[in-house]
Amino acid sequence: MRVLLTGGMGFIGSHTAVVLQEAGHEPVLFDNLSNADRSVASRIERITGRAPQFIEGDIRDGALLEKVLREEAVDAVIHFAGLKAVGESVVKPLEYFDNNLTGTLRLLEAMRASGVKRLIFSSSSTVYGPPAHLPLQETDPTGEATNPYGRTKIMIEEMLADLCRADPEWSAVCLRYFNPIGAHPSGLIGDDPNGIPNNLLPYVSRVANGRLPFLNVYGNDYDTPDGTGVRDYIHVMDLARGHAAALPYAMSHTGWRAVNLGCGRGYSVLEVVAAFEKASGRRVPVKFAPRRTGDIAANWCDPALARGLFGWEAKLTIEDMCRDAWRFESMRAAEAAAQTQS
Ligand code: WQD
Repeated sequence: MRVLLTGGMGFIGSHTAVVLQEAGHEPVLFDNLSNADRSVASRIERITGRAPQFIEGDIRDGALLEKVLREEAVDAVIHFAGLKAVGESVVKPLEYFDNNLTGTLRLLEAMRASGVKRLIFSSSSTVYGPPAHLPLQETDPTGEATNPYGRTKIMIEEMLADLCRADPEWSAVCLRYFNPIGAHPSGLIGDDPNGIPNNLLPYVSRVANGRLPFLNVYGNDYDTPDGTGVRDYIHVMDLARGHAAALPYAMSHTGWRAVNLGCGRGYSVLEVVAAFEKASGRRVPVKFAPRRTGDIAANWCDPALARGLFGWEAKLTIEDMCRDAWRFESMRAAEAAAQTQS
């Protein structure tokens, strides 16, 4: 199948492109490179032996999207493109609503105009807000997002639900990611955000490699075993395989579905730091800091629906996640040093 990946040069998109190519599909990567590097396409080629098609563009350009959907004979769309920094969204809500909501609206209009009505959407556990109980199931209430980023995810899920109610030809599968971390085992692609990382793993990686002095642990007074935040971390390769497993479902069913993609267990910040120190052989100094606005104490999911619908479950461990993240960070640093010397 020919699958358009909006945001396909980003962290989750690029790993999904690798898995789709290896499964015999043709991913077409559509990205404005606002948070991704142009070299990702050649890195994917080094991994799979085939260069994915890359089209530079913004999802708010509806005319370009329609042109691409028609000319590339796209069968389905996986929609990754979106701004995703929780803290930044609090400071810049209008940019998040414009990029994430207007962009999604333009995409859906272009899909309707070109007759492509199969969509997998990159949603997030953040739609649940502070969980009333754990593990989280897809039937649990959403709508209590604590930040504009989370609200855009909720609004897009609801846009898709309304669209499926209005036009029964549509298939919309909302994949609610928990915390994606790690990197492709080759070390060629991974999570390398621009500037200072918001998320835990890329920050820890840079501390381990001496690019940052220490990790601020945001709160050690939560109601968790060691007082630090607990999350359901999932290897990005497991997450990518979850998308490939959702594709046949999206092509053979219509209607709206939300599905959790996680491991079904939580790790605390300090447990992740310990796992990373073991995987890297490096020390990760920490300092306890006040809680971060918008953070919740703990969340993890019940992954049973993904197993039932897609025949998929996460298989990689927290040790695999840290080992692969460290390999990516080490190779990236070595490349940067080599470029500096040349
Ligand atoms: C994890 C834990 C922090 C950084 C968000 C989005 C989610 C997804 C992933 C996009 C928390 C603690 C973190 C640091 C720390 N986004 N932490 N020091 O906030 O659970 O999820 O990012 O796909 O949709 O909601 O992820 O990695 O920022 O935080 O102590 O420097 O690590 O308090 O307990 P989060 P995170």
